[in-house]
Amino acid sequence: MKIFIAKDYEELSTIAYGYIKDIVKSNPRAVLGLATGSTPLGIYRLMAEDCAQKISYKEIRTVNLDEYVGLSATHDQSYRYFMQTNLFNKIDIPLQNTFVPDGTGDPVAECRRYDALLDTLPRDIQLLGIGTNGHIAFNEPGTPFESRTHTVTLNQSTIDANARFFQSINEVPRRAITMGIKDIMAAKRLLLVATGTNKADAIAKALKGKSDPSCPASVLQQHNDVVIVLDQGAASKLVF
Ligand code: PGA
Repeated sequence: MKIFIAKDYEELSTIAYGYIKDIVKSNPRAVLGLATGSTPLGIYRLMAEDCAQKISYKEIRTVNLDEYVGLSATHDQSYRYFMQTNLFNKIDIPLQNTFVPDGTGDPVAECRRYDALLDTLPRDIQLLGIGTNGHIAFNEPGTPFESRTHTVTLNQSTIDANARFFQSINEVPRRAITMGIKDIMAAKRLLLVATGTNKADAIAKALKGKSDPSCPASVLQQHNDVVIVLDQGAASKLVF
């Protein structure tokens, strides 16, 4: 496991983007596992800037981690909408090469469809954030490490954390479709980014605590190619 502690958000984004850029340059048909949330935004900005100059995503495929149940692609808080506005519309990737779970149909059927899709698109890298409770994607504490794509009822801490994006906390969807932990672990390389002291406990538990479902991100200890990029706040409780 490689751990970088960046001096600020800009450096964190640059280091993390470097890993994505290397893959896209060495394999123009690579499959990128992408994530939503605030932390990846700097990486997506760098991807867009570089694409305008020299890097093409015309044949890249992307697979996202999760989506709220009930929100359509045009809802401004859906993760499909987030990806389109923050990345896909700013790079030259054809939209049909981008995959995000569909939150509008039958969730169970959508989980099976997504599993089948993942089996045909082995990811070269999977970008991840981490929740203050140690979740990865919407895999909340207690999720079995063997899980595949499934629907979840969000924990209160996740609803509280995501309420900042909605007009009121009552509008935050209570359910989501998420790639499972087994699916996340299937990517060749995992790239986790985290900022801020509010993530410090989760990071310490994930990287140095026992690897078990009480902290979903602790599964990363069992993967053989993991890159972690933190700012000083997120790293503040790590003891080496
Ligand atoms: P954040 O979300 O990047 O907005 O902090 C991360 C997560 O909850 O997985």
